[in-house]
Amino acid sequence: MKERIKTQIPGVKSKLLHERREEAVPRGPYHVTEIYVKEAKGSTVVDVDGNEYIDFAGGIGIQNIGHNHPKVVQAIQKQASEFIHTSFHVAPYESYVELAERLNKKTPGNFPKKTMFANSGAEAVENAVKIARKYTGKSGVISFERGYHGRTLLTMSLTGKLKPYKHGFGPFANDTYKLPFPYYYRSDYTTDINKIDEVLLSKFQEFFISEAAADEIAAVIMEPVQGEGGFIVPSKTFVQGIKKICEENNVLFIADEIQTGFCRTGKMFAMEHFEIEPDIITMSKSLAAGMPLSAVTGRAEVMNAPEVGQLGGTFGGSPLACVAGLAVLDVIEEENLVKKSEQLGEQIQKKFHEMKSKFEVIGDVRGLGPMCAMELVTDPITKNPADKLTAEIVRYCWENGLFALSAGMYGNVLRFLPPVTIEKDKLEQGFKILNEAFLALAAK
Ligand SMILES: Cc1ncc(COP(=O)(O)O)c(C=O)c1O
Repeated sequence: MKERIKTQIPGVKSKLLHERREEAVPRGPYHVTEIYVKEAKGSTVVDVDGNEYIDFAGGIGIQNIGHNHPKVVQAIQKQASEFIHTSFHVAPYESYVELAERLNKKTPGNFPKKTMFANSGAEAVENAVKIARKYTGKSGVISFERGYHGRTLLTMSLTGKLKPYKHGFGPFANDTYKLPFPYYYRSDYTTDINKIDEVLLSKFQEFFISEAAADEIAAVIMEPVQGEGGFIVPSKTFVQGIKKICEENNVLFIADEIQTGFCRTGKMFAMEHFEIEPDIITMSKSLAAGMPLSAVTGRAEVMNAPEVGQLGGTFGGSPLACVAGLAVLDVIEEENLVKKSEQLGEQIQKKFHEMKSKFEVIGDVRGLGPMCAMELVTDPITKNPADKLTAEIVRYCWENGLFALSAGMYGNVLRFLPPVTIEKDKLEQGFKILNEAFLALAAK
């Protein structure tokens, strides 16, 4: 095997670029590594100094089909040679309509649907809330503790983690509320999952008495697996229970599948695991393999509530992004990525459980399919978050040729979002570096 890491990390060219970055860019836009990218292909990223990394971060869940898939590159190049932008609001084009048709079919829900496009995940959530408010004639929106929905004012308001996302940015949007979300590993009162679900579902009923009446609430928005929150998976009973209460109270259920969609969890959409048909689904990230694109798909009558001209934006559903999205859907079908995702999930979960039995700092391994994480603790009994160690492991990984990410309320979760298409040898090499990181930093 050729040496993938050839220089000190970061290399000289990365360091120079980083100095320029510090001068030119504010500190706010954070990056995990100080590695500057030259090119990327499949599950590999190459930096400006010629070092090669295995990518278990996938551009934060963007690259489910792998970097620069030839079909996506071809589709973008062909589109760029024809036309780049007319704006859907001036002169529309087929790729927007076709991608909407295909998402209407692919998303869970056996009823007529419609789809609109925007540029980012946050923008999709903003639009989903606008549509829900217009349809129901109500304004309240409920999200969940530890949830993440973006960095715009409304989506920040819906997000359930203060630092770094919200701190100092208030006042936040009115009429937004939080409900508790199960975190079975850290429940205060019991380890009995059924009991936790029962208590949390009863909080929703109480909410209508104590916080806002059902006739004031337009929608509940839920990530099927909390992403930034630390890959926290709720039970089917909990998700179905929330959906049922929504139905009984004329409250729309919005599934935020921005991180979980497009084969991230062993199914095309994570809500399929819970057998839920959401009224509205928000999607982005892997939808267009790195082109800025997001989608809102929902029941046709709900999506049609806003009047002509009430939805959109100059760049929303740009031709380059829509053709990339169509190519992604083709690749998912042609390469049987739903099945591959399921298999990858089994491999990752097996490996992480093996590591958990070796390293006491791994307090919990959890996830759905290949959306899998480890929560690190200083002590398995007190479960004190090992946030510093988590940061050290992330750093060790990228210094040794692997991109990994942290997450979670306490910054003590190692989460992994590798391409579903990752080759077996790359996966093994990635595991090896990760194992070495634990041996170097966390062995007893
Ligand atoms: C579940 C979820 N919703 C919304 C967003 C916001 O997406 P964006 O960063 O594209 O605005 C994210 C991004 O991580 C996400 O994971």
